[in-house]
Amino acid sequence: MRVRNKAWAPEELENNKHMIHDPEGCKGRWKEVFGNDKPIHVEIGCGKGRFVSLMALANPDINYVGIERQTTVIAIAARRITEEQENIFLTQVDVENLENYFEVGEIDRLYINFCDPWPKKAHAKRRLTHRNFLEMYKRVFGEKAEIFFKTDNRGLFEFSLEEMNENGWKFSNISLDLHKDECPWNIMTEYEEKFSSKGQPIYRLEARWEK
Ligand SMILES: C[S@@+](CC[C@H](N)C(=O)[O-])C[C@H]1O[C@@H](n2cnc3c(N)ncnc32)[C@H](O)[C@@H]1O
Repeated sequence: MRVRNKAWAPEELENNKHMIHDPEGCKGRWKEVFGNDKPIHVEIGCGKGRFVSLMALANPDINYVGIERQTTVIAIAARRITEEQENIFLTQVDVENLENYFEVGEIDRLYINFCDPWPKKAHAKRRLTHRNFLEMYKRVFGEKAEIFFKTDNRGLFEFSLEEMNENGWKFSNISLDLHKDECPWNIMTEYEEKFSSKGQPIYRLEARWEK
């Protein structure tokens, strides 16, 4: 996501009460951080936060963590969250280090929405659905894992299906044109709004793995 740097962003991140500045310190303590026992759903690469913040509003019985590495982008996400929302935190970190921030079994669901497709074969390992990432997600989940994935990129979708299949994940609710189906429950991300308004199909799947 390309966004021009905003001078206000670092201060916003510093002061916004929904930002977690020490995610390593939350490892194994997220239920304490949220102050309850509700399931924890994590969006990786949450961008400007439309999806994760609206999901948190729509699902008060779920706790949400949005992960994003770009300063201005996550600052925009932080601004979106209303003062009263208690079931959402954001943290500015790299997904590569997810194991440093969550204890085994602490996450109940992972959302990957419109992650960078890295179209060159030489960059395949950077795709967030590459088998190396899938292995890491499994380690964090522990016994049971659940990923909900959306993209506008057919090549990335096919790659992800193949990677997940070879990595032992089982699929359900696969859609090759999400917006053509009735899906009143669907909450759109920023990228999804952009691509679907141009008439591009949105691909979606749910993938589950058990030890
Ligand atoms: C293409 S954008 C999609 C944003 C949002 N999910 C949406 O659908 O509108 C991908 C986002 O993932 C973030 N991202 C990519 N790789 C990441 C990583 N390894 N760790 C954290 N964020 C990452 C990027 O900074 C970017 O904001």
